[in-house]
Amino acid sequence: MKNTLHALVWLTLLAVGAPEVSAGPPPAYEGRRLYVSYCQLCHGTDGKGSGPLAKAMQIDVADLTTTVRSRSDTILTKIITGEGRQTITGRDRHNLLSAAMPEWKDVFDETQVKALIAYLRFLGSTKHDLMGDPKVGLELYQQYCQVCHGVEGDGDGIMTNLMGIMPMDHTNPNETNSLDNEALVESILDGKGRYMPAWRGILDQRDVEALVSYIRLLSH
Ligand code: HEC
Ligand code: HEC
Repeated sequence: MKNTLHALVWLTLLAVGAPEVSAGPPPAYEGRRLYVSYCQLCHGTDGKGSGPLAKAMQIDVADLTTTVRSRSDTILTKIITGEGRQTITGRDRHNLLSAAMPEWKDVFDETQVKALIAYLRFLGSTKHDLMGDPKVGLELYQQYCQVCHGVEGDGDGIMTNLMGIMPMDHTNPNETNSLDNEALVESILDGKGRYMPAWRGILDQRDVEALVSYIRLLSH
């Protein structure tokens, strides 16, 4: 069995030489990148509103981890771009009142606004903090994990089909949310089941933490 497995791995590695179509980074990942540059100063790293600029400007920014839950994508798009804010009615009307929330319509295109919303939804729903640098995680994931877990993280990798295995679907929040950060770290370092390899010795603790945070963003 071991030999068969080795042969399969070799065959696969040969096959991997072929160029792979790469999907862009997942929306929540891209959204986080934009959030860190453009929003965090006021809204804070955790979205709760304690950014240094908000303090300096003495403005009351919303706690995005709670408010965003009750807002539709359409309303959030209006709030972020500023376009059509005046048509927001009812419960959402208070957003008209503060000019301290900039209008970003000339800064972001539609895809970027969608990415930002995906990240706000992540902030509002995740049970687990991001424990490492997702940027490092993305690179490592492409290098080591994609081959089984798939370009998009849904478990549809080249080796998945060749070996007839079923990796965890990293895009499914029900699957990833049920495990805390420590459990994910442990599975990556020590392996899981028959075909999820142990990465201890290849990746260090920081690499693995970066991977865990990337996996969290994949599932939103
Ligand atoms: C200069 C400070 C500042 C920056 C930078 C900023 N915001 Fe805001 N934001 C505010 C303030 C102030 C409010 C509260 C507006 C109100 O409630 O009247 C707000 C409110 C919001 C709301 C509405 C919250 C609710 O009530 O549901 C969203 C969504 C939001 N901001 C997203 C963003 C995003 C995304 C970015 C980055 C692209 C960003 N903000 C950058 C100051 C800022
Ligand atoms: C040879 C194929 C293969 C590679 C390469 C691989 N995985 Fe997996 N992975 C699997 C399989 C199969 C499972 C399902 C294991 C099980 O539950 O039996 C899995 C499960 C997981 C799980 C869930 C573990 C749990 O506790 O349920 C995580 C997290 C994970 N992989 C992360 C990674 C990361 C990060 C990498 C890259 C560093 C990676 N995997 C590379 C095949 C692979």
